[in-house]
Parts: sequence; structure tokens; C-alpha cells
Amino acid sequence: MADDKNPQCQQKIDPHFGTKAIHAGQNPDQWTFKDVVPPIALTTTYKQYGPNDHAGFEYTRCGNPIRKVLQECIASLEDAKHCLTYASGLAATTATIQLLKAGDHVVCGDDMYGGTNRYFRNIASKFGLKFTMIDMTDLKNVENAILPETKLVWLESPTNPLMRVSDLKAIATFAHKFREDILVVVDNTFQTAYFQKPLQLGADIVLYSLSKYMNGHSDVIMGALVINDTPLFDSLAYIQNSCGIMSSPFDCYLVNRGLKTLHVRMKEHMRNGLAVARFLEQHPLVESVMHPGLPSHPQHAVAVRQCSGFSGMLSFYIKGGLDEATRFLQAIRVFCLAESLGGFESLADHPALMTHASVPPEERKALRISDNLIRLSVGIESEEDLIADLDQALKASVQK
Ligand SMILES: Cc1ncc(COP(=O)(O)O)c(C=O)c1O
Repeated sequence: MADDKNPQCQQKIDPHFGTKAIHAGQNPDQWTFKDVVPPIALTTTYKQYGPNDHAGFEYTRCGNPIRKVLQECIASLEDAKHCLTYASGLAATTATIQLLKAGDHVVCGDDMYGGTNRYFRNIASKFGLKFTMIDMTDLKNVENAILPETKLVWLESPTNPLMRVSDLKAIATFAHKFREDILVVVDNTFQTAYFQKPLQLGADIVLYSLSKYMNGHSDVIMGALVINDTPLFDSLAYIQNSCGIMSSPFDCYLVNRGLKTLHVRMKEHMRNGLAVARFLEQHPLVESVMHPGLPSHPQHAVAVRQCSGFSGMLSFYIKGGLDEATRFLQAIRVFCLAESLGGFESLADHPALMTHASVPPEERKALRISDNLIRLSVGIESEEDLIADLDQALKASVQK
């Protein structure tokens, strides 16, 4: 995506994205009454013609019409063959990890969503899985961390909350050269299918917390996996059904509705996100800003090479410490102090005390998830109101 206000991203936005978001999987002819908006079937079970002879669905844990619609729509946005949706992003993470067995090794980033870190460290490791957490921005670290027993490489790019960017193509190429069957998983929650296509860069699985941008209305918790390989899809579908971690019909209906405006929302998130990042970067009460679309970002060149734009996510260090950060977060009026991200409304988060409190303190210290780090999810309100709000809150941060 390239215009005079935006970084010169080298990947093209899919010109058919909006049409797919609105029509893929939604053909009215599949319904008895030709519903233009896919209906919600709240039934748990389906009448059969004869034993195991049915119209496509037998029990809603195994499959449901609106879930099928949503899964087809998401797969199409990713130009992929398959998608599976789950009760949350973390349920999608759980499903992915269920592909492994005791003794298997996972290489993952040291900076990632706190809940993923907690799941790997405190739950999955109890079942004999080993995790090596590294800074994925340096390919050499990945090369050194991969072992003969490595089965999975897990990436977030940009990372949550430090906005680090990894070279997805280089990492996937190295992992697959090392051993063909190493699975490369990319959590694409921050970028969405609109701005980044990890499967096209060599990933095997794309993971989403649909609770964020993809739904975009901060009213559903859901996750998804997107896959091209059919045997891998079959294994994951078996896990989805066997573990019972699928999404509910009503939630699928809402996410399917939210997806219809994803392309419209993402353009606004990008515009506002960049405007806020540029404003903060020149502000005397800000130490530094992390937004991959800024030329000052250490991996800016990789970012513009592998994506077609940026979401409204950014983090910054406010000058001072916990007191200044707290005063800032209590002074915001248009931004709201709350966990989560990716909705139409602007949110501010204090990672050390909120979303990343479960990351061990010594690790937070090493990563610089410090008391003066603030993460913003810039929404689609009017740009000047967002900037005026940040300006007054920054001024309030130094008023004792
Ligand atoms: C990057 C990322 N991945 C995964 C998750 C987990 O998603 P969920 O909250 O839907 O379980 C989150 C949640 O904040 C996230 O930010």
C-alpha cells in the first residue's frame, strides 16, 4: 500500500479483498429461504434421514452451518484452503500445541502475547514439551535454537507489546530446509489477513485471535487457524472436535458480520496509527515510539518488504516511570484504559501491570517491558481528537 502519507509497503493489497469479505461462503442459495445474511442455527443436533445419513451436519461441536460460512470466508481472505475457528485465540493456540507430543521442542519468540507465554511456560511444558524463547528478529538466533527434536517454530510479527518484526520468509525457509516437517506458525492477530499473508511467505499455519481486528467490535472472544495442507487440516479438525474447543454459532455470526468491514476499518486504523506514532515521536514527554511503519523502527525495512500496511498498534516509552505512566493512563479521555486491542475504539494498556503481568518479572526486565511502557490500540475515531487526547494526557503525566 503506497500513498504520500504511508510507508512504501512492497506487498500489494488483494484487490478482491472486500468482495471476498462480503461474499465468500455466503451464497444465499445454500439456505431454504435464500437468506442474504447467513442465518444462525442454534441447534445442537440435526435430524438424520437414516443412521449416519444426514444433510451435512450431525452435532454442533463437529460442525454448524454458520461456523462453516465463517471458516470459508476467513480461508478465502487468506487465499487458503482451510480455516477452523475456536472458542478463543488461546484455544487456537492450544489446538496447535495438541499436534505435538512429549519430548517435542518448540522455538518461539521471547516477546509475545503474555497469555501465550503463560500457556507455553506453565501448561504445555507440564506435558513434556520444551520451549526455547529467543529474539526472533535475528535469524542467527533461530538457526542456533532449532534442534533435531524441534517440531514447531512459533512467531508473532509484529510482537506484542514491543512491536518487533521478524523476517517471516527467511525463518520459514530456514526451518523447512532444516527439516521439511517443522511447522511454522505465525500469530497474525496484529496485522490481519488484510495487511500480511504469512502462508504466502512460507508459514504452515496462521493463527488469529479473532477477538481483535478481524471481528473489530470488541464483543466476541474467538480464535482461528488457517491452513493450506489438507492432512494438517484433517489433524487439526480432529483435535477441534475431540477437545471441544470450537466457537459458538452466535459468536460465529458476529465475527462473520465484523469481517464485512475489515478492509474499511484497517485503512483507518493504519492512517490513525501512523498519525499518532508520528505525533508521539516528536513529543518532548515521550522517550521513544515503536511502530514498524516509522523509518526509526529497527526492522522497518523488513516490515515494508513483507506486508502491505500496518494496523493501529504501537507502543511507546513515556518519560519517567510508573507514576508518570499511571497519571497518563488516568488522564486519557478518548482512549480507554483497558486490555485487548483491535476494536474500533482506541485503547491504552500498561503491559507490565496488565496484559503481560504473567510474564516472569526478570524476563519483563530483560525485554524492557518496563513501568514506563504503554501500548496503544489506535481506533478509528477522528484523528485530531485522538491526538488532542494524548497531548493533554502527556501534559497531565508531569503534573504532580
Ligand atoms: C497477539 C495475540 N495473540 C493471541 C491472543 C489470545 O487471544 P484470545 O484473547 O482471543 O484468547 C491475544 C490476546 O490478547 C493476542 O494479543
